Amino acid sequence: MAVPENKNLLRALTRQTVTPPPVWLMRQAGRYLPEYRAVRADAGSFLDLCYTPELAAEVTLQPIRRFQLDGAILFSDILVVADGLGRKVTFDEGPKLEPLRDASELESLQPDRVCERAAPVFETVRRVRRELPANTTLIGFAGAPWTVATYMVEGGGSRDFQRVKSWAYRAPESFARLIDVLVDVTSRYLNAQIGAGAETVQLFDSWAGVLPELPFRRWSLEPIRAVIANVHAVHPEVPVIVFARGAGANYEMLAAESGADAIGIDATTPLGWARDHVQSRCAVQGNLDPALLVAGGAALDAEIDRIVATLGRRPFVFNLGHGVLPETPPEHVAQLVARVRKPR
Ligand code: CP3
Repeated sequence: MAVPENKNLLRALTRQTVTPPPVWLMRQAGRYLPEYRAVRADAGSFLDLCYTPELAAEVTLQPIRRFQLDGAILFSDILVVADGLGRKVTFDEGPKLEPLRDASELESLQPDRVCERAAPVFETVRRVRRELPANTTLIGFAGAPWTVATYMVEGGGSRDFQRVKSWAYRAPESFARLIDVLVDVTSRYLNAQIGAGAETVQLFDSWAGVLPELPFRRWSLEPIRAVIANVHAVHPEVPVIVFARGAGANYEMLAAESGADAIGIDATTPLGWARDHVQSRCAVQGNLDPALLVAGGAALDAEIDRIVATLGRRPFVFNLGHGVLPETPPEHVAQLVARVRKPR
C-alpha cells in the first residue's frame, strides 16, 4: 500500500529518506504543558484520564496544536495492560502494582479481559484519528513484554530488578509463561489499536538495558520479535517502531532480527555507530538528551544539527533519547521543532 505523500512520519518509517526529517517526542503530552496539568487536575486518577476518551483525546492533541509535530502518540500508559490482566495498578509519584511473585499466580491473570478493559483506549484512537490534521501520523503503543513484566513482578520501578531477574534465572520455564501471556495480549492490544486507526505502533522496552546479552536475547528481543510477527501477520503494511532503552551494542541485534521497521535509540548511543550498524538495516529514531531540551540555548541547536547531519541522509525520525522531562520549558520544544525543520 502506498504511503500518502503528506505523511512524513509514515514515509520515514517505511524507509524513505525524508528531508527535513519528521519529528515527534516521546512523552510529548504531559506535565511540562500547563494545558495538560489543567486536564489532569480535573480527571480524577491517572488511570481515569487514560480511560476517558474525551480527555485522553484532548491531551493527545494538545502538543499537536502547539507544535505541529509529525506524529501524535495516543495518550495512555504501558501499564493499562497489567491493569487489564487484573493486577491492581495505581499511580502515586510513579506506578505501584500489586506484585506478581511467582508462577502460582499466573493462573489468576485474565488475558481475555485486556482488550475489553481497553475499549475506551480504542475509542480514544478513533476520536484522535478523526481530529488530526491530514499530515499527522497517529502512533499507537504498548510496553514490550520484558518491561511490563518488570513492573508486574517488582510492583513498580526498581533499582536492581532483583525480583524479576531472580525469577527469570531460577525458573525460566515459568517466567516464560508470564512473557508468553504478555506477548499474546500485547499483540492483540496493538492490533486492536491499529483496527481503531493507529497508523504505526511503538513498543517501549524501557528496561531492556538491564539485561546481559543472553537474557536480552531471550526476554527482550524474542518476545518483541513475536509481537511484531503477530502484528505484521494481521497488518503487514503497518510499521513497528522498537524503542529499547540502554540496549547499547544490542541495538544491532534488534535491528537485524526483531523485524522492526525502525529502532529508537537512547541518548547515549553514538550517532556514527547508529548510522553504520542500525540505519543500514532499518529506520532510526532518536536521540537527543531530554536534559538538553530542558537546558535549551545554543547547545540545544548545535546538538540538533549534529544529529540531523549524521542520521538525516537515510531513513530517520527526529526524537529524544527518552521522554520529555516535566521541567522542560515548552518554548524549548518550539525551538527544537523549528531547528529540525530549518532548511539545510
Ligand atoms: O505523550 C506520550 O508519550 C503518551 C503517553 C505515555 C505515558 N506513558 C503517559 C504518562 C506513554 C507513551 C507512556 C509510556 C510509559 N509509561 C513508559 C515507557 C516510556 C518510558 O518512559 O520509559 C513507562 C516505563 C511507563 C510507566 C510509567 N507511567 C511511569 C514510570 C510513570 C511515572 C513517571 C512519571 O513521569 O510520572 C508513569 C505515569 C505517566 N505516564 C505520566 C504520564 C503523562 C505522569 C503521570 C501524571 O501525569 O500524573
